Amino acid sequence: MDLLTEPRPVIALDDDLTLRAFDAGADLPEFFRVIEESLDHLRPWMPWTAEHSLDHTTAFLAGRSSLWASGDEYTYAIVLDGALVGSCGLYRHEDTPDGVLEIGYWLHPAATGRGVVTRAARALAEEAFRVPGVDRVEIVHDPANLASGAVPARLGFTVGERRPAEALAPAETGENQVWCLPRSRWEG
Ligand SMILES: CC(C)(COP(=O)(O)OP(=O)(O)OC[C@H]1O[C@@H](n2cnc3c(N)ncnc32)[C@H](O)[C@@H]1OP(=O)(O)O)[C@@H](O)C(=O)NCCC(=O)NCCS
Repeated sequence: MDLLTEPRPVIALDDDLTLRAFDAGADLPEFFRVIEESLDHLRPWMPWTAEHSLDHTTAFLAGRSSLWASGDEYTYAIVLDGALVGSCGLYRHEDTPDGVLEIGYWLHPAATGRGVVTRAARALAEEAFRVPGVDRVEIVHDPANLASGAVPARLGFTVGERRPAEALAPAETGENQVWCLPRSRWEG
């Protein structure tokens, strides 16, 4: 296995599905529209939707390349049949232990139910384990967010701890469920 110092900016999965780093300028109109169309679906679980605006999306996209360069956030557009349908990524938060990358994701509601995020998360886990020093991948979600929890379950992650968490979005319960995939299990 070739080890990379950082994840690849373009991950072609199938004929129909690609993960790629955002282009802050070119992606803005389509990404903004996709968020607008997805707001009702995202609002229960994603606190940032409360601040949604063109300025917010512009600033989000503008910040991606420096976060990528710092190694804190590797954010990808999810492109299905040539259309941007969501976002996912590998993240290190302030409290993320060394050697861990967390996977996050969301989809436009019209792109759900087709295994898109499960395929994306599998690819992101593989990518994470090609980064030197990463020995565990985690997915963290509200326990009430069953669609989110079904993704790590499908991929063979192990159920980890439940942690108290601030409930910031309307459906959040005040707890987070952690799922873990150690490198040893991934490599079999
Ligand atoms: C979380 C979220 C991305 C999950 O979307 P999803 O469509 O359920 O997940 P996938 O894209 O992996 O699709 C899985 C579905 O496709 C089906 N599927 C079809 N082909 C499949 C394949 N090749 N592989 C896996 N699943 C497949 C699965 O059976 C499943 O359907 P089911 O829920 O009826 O059982 C979506 O609900 C979402 O955007 N939620 C709002 C934002 C959010 O909560 N983000 C996570 C915060 S922690």
